[in-house]
Amino acid sequence: MNVNLKAIINASEIATPTGNKAICGHDMSSIKSIKNGGIIIDGNKIVFVGTMDEVKAHDLYHEIPAENIIDAGGKLVTPGYVDSHTHFVFGGNRADEYNMRLAGATYMEIMEAGGGIQASVNATREISFDDLYARSKTVLERIFSLGVTTIEGKSGYGLNEETELKQLNVMKKLDEELPIDIVKTYMGAHSVPKEMKGRGREYLKTLEPTMQKVLDEDLAEFCDIFCEDKVFSIDESREYLNVAKKMGFKLKMHADEIVDLGGGKLAAEVGAVSADHLLMASDESLSAMRDAGVVANLLPLTAFSLREHYVEARKLIDMGLAVSIGTDYNPGSCPSYSMPLLIAISTLNMKMSVKEVLTAITLNAAAAIDRADEIGSIESGKKADILIHEIQKLSELAYNLGLPTVSTVIKNGEVV
Ligand code: NIG
Ligand code: FE
Repeated sequence: MNVNLKAIINASEIATPTGNKAICGHDMSSIKSIKNGGIIIDGNKIVFVGTMDEVKAHDLYHEIPAENIIDAGGKLVTPGYVDSHTHFVFGGNRADEYNMRLAGATYMEIMEAGGGIQASVNATREISFDDLYARSKTVLERIFSLGVTTIEGKSGYGLNEETELKQLNVMKKLDEELPIDIVKTYMGAHSVPKEMKGRGREYLKTLEPTMQKVLDEDLAEFCDIFCEDKVFSIDESREYLNVAKKMGFKLKMHADEIVDLGGGKLAAEVGAVSADHLLMASDESLSAMRDAGVVANLLPLTAFSLREHYVEARKLIDMGLAVSIGTDYNPGSCPSYSMPLLIAISTLNMKMSVKEVLTAITLNAAAAIDRADEIGSIESGKKADILIHEIQKLSELAYNLGLPTVSTVIKNGEVV
């Protein structure tokens, strides 16, 4: 017997994308489906995936202690979900703004009146580390229970060194203490703080010492900027991202969300790993992203919450882009981290098939945070981050409209 070995047996269907990199275009629907399948795990890694007949015939199967056999009970098994874009660490909430938006105010109007990101900055500067940790932990536990085994989280509600580092240190501690993996992004360039209003370029320059500290203390591997009309221009973003790249950050961008500034094209030019939102992105930007291998990270829950139109995901897929989907959970434009709602909107409103959506929230989402070689699929060599659902086949995933389907989360080979 080998106590490090485990198996998941009797899955009605194991549905997974395959590979170690982002899947582009129509290949996004190439989901491998194994009926009556099983998985052998050694420690935190997958070592074999196949039909139950193949699993039972495998040499290792007979070394697995009985108590390490997890019976999927004839249900669907998928890779753990990856939420590739969130701002889940923040103080306060903006329910009042949300209700103002319900009554007709726009996101930009609220921002220009001193609300918006600045309102969350004020609250996040005020809250103590311990309180910020406690509330973020509660949120993260709920996110995990919906099947998210890896999440990206951004700073950006401090806009000063002390509070940006507080946010990142909260994420670092949560990453160490909870089973979920957190990929951290420094986003001091989320907005110009009120104390430097009108001096965006100068503000970006002041961030460099903090960025160095973030790298030295291993507090983030990505750097992101809100490249948007009335926030940071294309030229400011280009200059900033090139500095960040030189320092050693991998790059992300909030691009072409509200106005088409050519953010997608800039993401291609600077070699960003992903460009996110893209509601207004031009065909020129999209082609440049495709050619440069930038993942198009779509955030339809934000469009839903802002009552905006959705990205034409079908067009992006036809063009051959690698599409991923994330929640963008944040206190303002998208107060939801619901994976079930995300799946519903992606299939109904962005007209993606459930197979494409599965690729977009697993392997391609992993690629959007540069983890496609480690997670995002159920294959030998990948981390054993696996979901057992209450449903029996992949087609039921979209059909369970807005409903949670995950019954068991396996993270790093452990049932949590
Ligand atoms: O991704 N667009 C910029 N940042 C967030 C919104 C942040 C906020 O409103 O607090 C987003 O939508
Ligand atoms: Fe965002």
